[in-house]
Amino acid sequence: MEKMPYRQELDTHVFQEPAGPVVSSDWQSALPALTGKTVTLRGLRPSDAASLFALLTTEEVSRFISPPPSTVQGFEAFIAWTLRQQAAGTYACFAVTLKGFDTAIGIFQVRETERGFSTAEWGFAIGSMFWGTGVFQDGAELLLAFAFETLDVHRLEARAAVSNGRGNGALLKVGAVREAILRKSFRCNSEYLDQVLYVIVEDDWTYSRNAGRRSRTFLH
Ligand SMILES: CC(C)(COP(=O)(O)OP(=O)(O)OC[C@H]1O[C@@H](n2cnc3c(N)ncnc32)[C@H](O)[C@@H]1OP(=O)(O)O)[C@@H](O)C(=O)NCCC(=O)NCCS
Repeated sequence: MEKMPYRQELDTHVFQEPAGPVVSSDWQSALPALTGKTVTLRGLRPSDAASLFALLTTEEVSRFISPPPSTVQGFEAFIAWTLRQQAAGTYACFAVTLKGFDTAIGIFQVRETERGFSTAEWGFAIGSMFWGTGVFQDGAELLLAFAFETLDVHRLEARAAVSNGRGNGALLKVGAVREAILRKSFRCNSEYLDQVLYVIVEDDWTYSRNAGRRSRTFLH
């Protein structure tokens, strides 16, 4: 999310509503619905634009991430862009919903950084009223399973601005390992911020899953 590859100013594609629901086990055609203890991750829809605009453009959510679209129409264009990237097989972006509800309250995204998803990067943003509620951890575990089991990711990276306390805390609690400091790597409000590079490799994730453990008992 910090470096969301979408750039509205470069997107000249005309938005079109999909013809109808797609039934497929192929994630490029339609992302699966992934259900955990409290949340369901599902594919984004054009109708998610309004709630995502309301929840992800607040100062506290957008403080350490690339500027989100500034209008509902901008979010519609972003969603259409995510679906095109998904169809091309390079990127997947899930809406976060509370189990039993359909409103999108955040997103989890993963994009390949090497062809075929051998290495990939993930990011996330959730409406601040849902912070500290377990939504992040539940959604993260679903996303990680999708990344390692469906996309066959071998190495999953994430970046968090050093000053993004919650972002760093969130990554650590799902087992991400600090690997490096990327000095002055993120331009944010005309300032260059240092970022922490976090990594989860497939072996760590498999070990954690097999051991039935997660979080702070992760293999570091
Ligand atoms: C990142 C995000 C999805 C995490 O969701 P969340 O609900 O806030 O995460 P959680 O509360 O489950 O976990 C955050 C952890 O960081 C800890 N934390 C909070 N502030 C902290 C700080 N300043 N320094 C260190 N740790 C901190 C919390 O205590 C918590 O750990 P705990 O559950 O063991 O107490 C959410 O904060 C968000 O959307 N932020 C804005 C978008 C963003 O920055 N995305 C990029 C992240 S790299």
